[in-house]
Amino acid sequence: MSILVLNGSPRIGGNTDVVLEHLREMAPENRNWIHLKLGRLKISPCTACDMCWNPEPCVFKDDMSKVFDILPESNLIIFASPIYWWNVTSYLKIVIDRLYPLASAKSPINLSGKKAAIVFVFADDDPTTADSANIMFDRIFEYLKLKDVGRLILPGLWKKGEAENEKVLEKIKDFSKKIFS
Ligand SMILES: Cc1cc2nc3c(=O)[nH]c(=O)nc-3n(C[C@H](O)[C@H](O)[C@H](O)COP(=O)(O)O)c2cc1C
Repeated sequence: MSILVLNGSPRIGGNTDVVLEHLREMAPENRNWIHLKLGRLKISPCTACDMCWNPEPCVFKDDMSKVFDILPESNLIIFASPIYWWNVTSYLKIVIDRLYPLASAKSPINLSGKKAAIVFVFADDDPTTADSANIMFDRIFEYLKLKDVGRLILPGLWKKGEAENEKVLEKIKDFSKKIFS
């Protein structure tokens, strides 16, 4: 079984990358760690043509196929993103929109019962900065019947490199125990 990481940060070596690298080191060795850096993939935004609800394959033939190919074999999906304007980045939001066919009863991919976790990093010291993003995922997890196994909320991280500190590492360790158990 695989762990699928959907990383919405476009900043190479940024705070999300640092956190996810620590997390990868803590992941069980017998699990396949598949880290998709969404900023480096070519994924078109959903245009609401609704073909996928017919159900037909998505009209766009692009890198979203990587996500669809890996989802069935994944039993933990980690949604990771910096907070941009109180929500996830557009890179991650585009992927979330393209998960639309999975909400259909006719979908060949069923996420019901799979584990899901969240990683958010952001500059503000106030944890409520991630409220909108958290509420969005409350609804999405409930709708797709994903099992919420943990959320790593990391305020106070702005510039590149700020995630490299002991306090953050301790939080990552606690989080890893929850999501990998
Ligand atoms: C376009 C943009 C919007 C941002 N909006 C917020 C915000 O609403 N709240 C906040 O605390 N930080 C905000 N930030 C700061 C990032 O969340 C922060 O720099 C984060 O550490 C970047 O993560 P990364 O290095 O993994 O890309 C924003 C940054 C950018 C580039």
